[in-house]
Amino acid sequence: MAKKFLEKGLTKLVRTRPVIIITTLHPDGIVNAGTFGAYTNLSSDEIGIAIGKPSHTYQNIKRTGEFVINVVTRSIASASEICAREISVSESEIEQAGLTTEPSKKIAVPFIKESVSCLECKFEKEVEIGGYHSFIIGKCIAGHIEESVIDKDGGLDVIKAKAIFNIRYPDPVYAVLSNPFTV
Ligand SMILES: Cc1cc2nc3c(=O)[nH]c(=O)nc-3n(C[C@H](O)[C@H](O)[C@H](O)COP(=O)(O)O)c2cc1C
Repeated sequence: MAKKFLEKGLTKLVRTRPVIIITTLHPDGIVNAGTFGAYTNLSSDEIGIAIGKPSHTYQNIKRTGEFVINVVTRSIASASEICAREISVSESEIEQAGLTTEPSKKIAVPFIKESVSCLECKFEKEVEIGGYHSFIIGKCIAGHIEESVIDKDGGLDVIKAKAIFNIRYPDPVYAVLSNPFTV
């Protein structure tokens, strides 16, 4: 079948991974939460995320060197939309979204209790990609995953967990995966 040729908005032609909420700490200790989707696994313990430089998440990561990646599932989908709002540093999206946190093991930034899978990360390096975003590479140093959503290979079972994927960013349209198959 003939394909349409495009030269703009190209990354929409592939879609990214399950939506994540990144938690970080503001200078006064308030927990910030931002929603992200433009990320990729770089190695078994490194993840890179394209983060807007004006965001609180970017500023907090650069200041403290720490952040937590929290996977978003169907049950907390609306909370992730709330975490995408721009609010003042004196407020926490966590409270507004009806989420709660639990202390991490190796870093000061807490993880989201309602998230099924969370990664404690340390800032490793930043790659300038020009324009609004910067590519932040983090070293994952500890993880927390609910037993019920652990896949055969020890990773997250995105189907069982009902991890959500944004399928028309920036529109708030999401999907969960089903019907796995092997070839
Ligand atoms: C599903 C979804 C995915 C998003 N992905 C990204 C992303 O990959 N990078 C980015 O800079 N902003 C992304 N955003 C927008 C941020 O969530 C938004 O800028 C937010 O205000 C950042 O929060 P913060 O200022 O507390 O860090 C996304 C928003 C949604 C709803």
